[in-house]
Amino acid sequence: MPRFPGLLLLGLAAGPLHAQARVASPDGRNQVTVELREGRLYYSLARDGRALVLPSLLGFAFKGAPPLRDGLRISDTTRRSHDEWWTQPWGEVARVRDHHNELAVGVEETSAPNRRFTLRVRAFDDGIGFRYEVPAQPGLGGFEITDELTEFALDDNARAWWIASNWPRKDRSEELYSSGPVSTLDSVQTPLTMELRDGRTFMVIHEASLVDYARMFLAGPRMEGRTLRSALQPMADGIKVRGTTPFVTPWRTIQLADRVTGLAPSLLGLKLNPPNVLAKTDWIHPMKYVGIWWGMHIGTMTWASGPKHGATTTNAKRYIDFAAANGFGGVLVEGWNVGWDGDWIANRNAFSFTKAYPDYDLAALAAYAKQKGVRLIVHNETSGGIENYERQLDSAFALYRSLGLDAIKTGYVTDLTSNGDSHYSQVMVNHYRKVIEAAARDGIMVDVHEPMHDTGERRTYPNMMSREGARGQEYNAWSGDGGNPPEHETILFFTRLLAGPMDFTPGIFDILRTHTGPARRNDEPRVRTTLAKQLALYVVLYSPLQMAADLPENYEGQPAFQFIRDVAVDWDTTRVLDARIGDYVVVARRERGGRSWFVGAVTDEQGRTLDVPLTFLPAGRRYVAEIYADGPKANWLDNPLPVTITRRPVTSATVLRVILAPGGGQAIRIRPAG
Ligand code: NOJ
Repeated sequence: MPRFPGLLLLGLAAGPLHAQARVASPDGRNQVTVELREGRLYYSLARDGRALVLPSLLGFAFKGAPPLRDGLRISDTTRRSHDEWWTQPWGEVARVRDHHNELAVGVEETSAPNRRFTLRVRAFDDGIGFRYEVPAQPGLGGFEITDELTEFALDDNARAWWIASNWPRKDRSEELYSSGPVSTLDSVQTPLTMELRDGRTFMVIHEASLVDYARMFLAGPRMEGRTLRSALQPMADGIKVRGTTPFVTPWRTIQLADRVTGLAPSLLGLKLNPPNVLAKTDWIHPMKYVGIWWGMHIGTMTWASGPKHGATTTNAKRYIDFAAANGFGGVLVEGWNVGWDGDWIANRNAFSFTKAYPDYDLAALAAYAKQKGVRLIVHNETSGGIENYERQLDSAFALYRSLGLDAIKTGYVTDLTSNGDSHYSQVMVNHYRKVIEAAARDGIMVDVHEPMHDTGERRTYPNMMSREGARGQEYNAWSGDGGNPPEHETILFFTRLLAGPMDFTPGIFDILRTHTGPARRNDEPRVRTTLAKQLALYVVLYSPLQMAADLPENYEGQPAFQFIRDVAVDWDTTRVLDARIGDYVVVARRERGGRSWFVGAVTDEQGRTLDVPLTFLPAGRRYVAEIYADGPKANWLDNPLPVTITRRPVTSATVLRVILAPGGGQAIRIRPAG
């Protein structure tokens, strides 16, 4: 790589040496400056010349060694440009362009132990990423990081949408979002989405390619300014990251957009992950699925053995028949395996991932499903019993493969894992990765609940399909705070979903039925949407594994079920047509390899009327729009069920008037006419 001749050495005779180097995005708008100030290294970010991130500290603190922070000098800089297109095996879009300019800044301590690292910065038109690369060196071999010193000194007291990282119940991303100025943040999770006060720039801080490192949270300024700090999740012994050089950190990413509609699909994280390593990906198939699942959440079935055991051979056959009759690819069965009796967490080492309950014939059901063109999705709830699961990984996956089963849903219900580690520590980063890699070897697709947050792993391992990692539909069955409020999904779309696909499990039709029966009071759990909004979520909340979550009997005789049968799960193109975070969002997606488009619109508790131009359709072609709208007087609170289904011819010149009920939605299939 060529040495960069343009390194600016701004040494002043009397003062310390200042040096800085800059890199701009291909469109020239996003510019990162890396500079030394009194021996410390800082980066800053400007867009169109306007400061977004002020000079922010970089470096590390170690146990048993001085911080790698002071007395630094820039030894060299190198530059590179890159422009490449690739096709994702599945996704919100088929083709992704990685076009960036890169600056690598070599940094070293001016005195012993003369440790050194490289700060690699990539500037894209849709944001930036930077990471530390620490080579093997005499002064830095084995290490224990107690803090990564990276800061994000925000210029604007932007409005942020956030969930805390220090809930009383630890280790959860399953919380409702709040919003407020950056200056009021305490400790928050990423992706952290922010709207600058002038409404003309949106920023999202997150990370990409989290490998053998700890998950990053952001420790806030607590009213003391606007500087967020990287806060790595420690292991049980308090160390954040343990390792030996050489090592690289995950990329710290700042996604940028002028308009809120420009935030999704968010592809920055994919561009900062290594390319696909799987020799073959043709076995990986996005699909819709049903499952023995909601019954447990509303209490009509149990995971445990007994009279209400859901995972029986008879029940599973009924679900398989239903899936086959309606074109679903998968049937998830939870509670099939020995270990569910009693306290799951206390007994977590009792979970077997190969041994079924006596009333569930795994082999016969796998064969029955196959003959019907359906596949079982095998549930692996670990309750955080990591050693127990890792011990069984090989035998379990070998069994599933021998039965022709190619998808698992994993689960980590617990506050702390069996070794006392946080879900988000380096130990667990490595565990989650190990499962993805083992599954990839055995030809198994993975859907993770209680996951590590998504940092774009699906680019490298396209068998890493979907995850939960936020409050999903299940909260509407049992949560003590009444369920997800109507605004929830309009925030999820611009926060959690910017990290990657989410297994939200939409499609509840029996909206008022919960585990206590019909909800009567405000704090009783229930689905807080209209039925039409449940349909729209199939388009809005992207997942390559998309569940029809309700009991099959609740879809019977329901014309609106046709939309779930028809909707695609894999997309060529995605366009956010209109949105306001926390209020509403309208998304259009074109099915992968086809000509049909699907539009989903969802709103918060406010009803609203939106005019949606169909200019995304190719000009001169005729289409039919099949519209599933909130029915007359529908609203989420006391009249959620009415859906009006209409058909009308449309072209690219059509402007659809989309009327959303309070807490409502609209789902539209636009197929070529004729
Ligand atoms: C929580 C998961 O999110 C849910 O889908 C699953 O049914 C339960 N854990 C039991 O594993």
